[in-house]
Amino acid sequence: MAGIDHGQQRRRIVQALGAASALGALGAAAPAFAQSTKLKVGFMLPYTGTYAALGRAIENGFKLYVNEQGGKLGGREIEYFTVDDESEPAKAADNVNKLIKRDNVDVIVGTVHSGVQMAIVKAARDNNTLLIIPNAGVDEATGPLCAPNIFRVSFSNSQPGLAMGIVAALRGYKTAVTITWKYAAGEQSIGGFKETFEKGGGKVLKELYVPFPNVEFQALLTEIASIKPTCTYAFFAGGGAVKFVKDYAAAGLKDKVPLLGAGFLTDGTLDAQGGAADGLLTTLHYADNLTTPRNTAFRLAYAKAYSSKADVYAVQGYDSAQLLGIGLRAVGGDIGQRPLLIRAMAAAEIDSPRGKITLSPSHNVVQDFYLRKVENGENKSIGLAAKSLADPGRGCTMG
Ligand code: BEZ
Repeated sequence: MAGIDHGQQRRRIVQALGAASALGALGAAAPAFAQSTKLKVGFMLPYTGTYAALGRAIENGFKLYVNEQGGKLGGREIEYFTVDDESEPAKAADNVNKLIKRDNVDVIVGTVHSGVQMAIVKAARDNNTLLIIPNAGVDEATGPLCAPNIFRVSFSNSQPGLAMGIVAALRGYKTAVTITWKYAAGEQSIGGFKETFEKGGGKVLKELYVPFPNVEFQALLTEIASIKPTCTYAFFAGGGAVKFVKDYAAAGLKDKVPLLGAGFLTDGTLDAQGGAADGLLTTLHYADNLTTPRNTAFRLAYAKAYSSKADVYAVQGYDSAQLLGIGLRAVGGDIGQRPLLIRAMAAAEIDSPRGKITLSPSHNVVQDFYLRKVENGENKSIGLAAKSLADPGRGCTMG
C-alpha cells in the first residue's frame, strides 16, 4: 500500500520489542515508587452531544481495567479528573488547560473528536504532558504532530477507509458516492476509501458533506438516488450514525445502493438502529464475535460492570489503561521517569480484546482490520479486510 514501508515498520517494531524485553527485566526490578500521592488521570471526553455514548464507553473501559488491577496501575492509586469537551473544537484549548493547569494531571486520556484532538495534541506538545488518545483518528496526531509523549491506541482516520476501499473494489463495485460530516475524521476516512477503491479500479463519483453534527440528510439522500452509484461509503458515528442509517433505509436506498462504512457507522449503535442496520458491511479493528478467551472475558466483565454491551470505544478505553499500566510498571509507578516510561509504552505489546497489538514508530496501533456484517444485533467478523495495517505516519519525526 502506498506510503507504508512494511519492511521498515517491521524492523522498527522488532527493535522496539527488543527494548521491551530489556525493560521487562528492568520493570520487574524497579522498586515501587515510594510515594503515597495518587496518580492523576484526566479524562477529556464528550459526555454530551452526538458522541456522548462514545466518551462514556471509553471511561467505562478504562476504569474496568484499573478495577481489575485492584484500583492501581504500577502500584499507584488513581484519582480521576473529568472535563466534558462537548465535541466542540472552539472550546478545546480552554478545556484542556483545565486539566493541565488547574488540575495538574499526570496524564490526559482524550478524546473522541478529531477537531478537539488537534487542540489537545498542541497542548500536550507545548506542556510536555503525557497523552493517550483513546479514539480520535486525526492523521496529524501520529503524522507531522507526532511526539514522544503522545500515544494513540485506536486507529488513524484513513485506516478503516483504506480497508473498505480494498473490499469494495474486490467485490466488484465500480462507482461510489461518499457521504460524511465536513471535518477531519470524515474527510480523512473518505480519503482512505478513495485511495484504495480507485487503485482497485473503482471511481468515486461525488463526495457529499454535511456540517458536524448536523443530521439533516434528506437532500443528500435524494442526490445519491439520482446519481445511482453502485455503492455508498459513509463515515458517521454515535447519534449521527443512528439517524443516518435509519434515514438511508427509510429513503428506500438500502436495497438499491449497498451502504458500506467505516465500522463506527454501526458500532455502539445497533440497538437504536434496529432492522435498518441489518446486513450492513463495515470495516473496523474490532468485531463483537471474536471468540478469543480475552475478548469473551472482556465482554462478560464489561456487561457485568455496566449492564451494557462492550463496543470498540470500550475496548479502546480499556487498552488506554493497559498501555499506561505497562509504562508505569516499568518505572515502578514513578511517572517522572519519562524516558524509561516512554520507551516501555512505545515497545508495549498489549493483550487487547481485539487481539495482540503493538505500536508503530509514530505511536499508532498496527492492527488487523475486520470486514464485519451486521447480523442479529451484532457486528460479526466475516473475514479479514487488511492484515497488520499500519498508519503511514506521514510527516512524523520523533525528534
Ligand atoms: C473522530 O472524530 O476522529 C472520530 C469520531 C468518532 C468515531 C471515529 C472517529
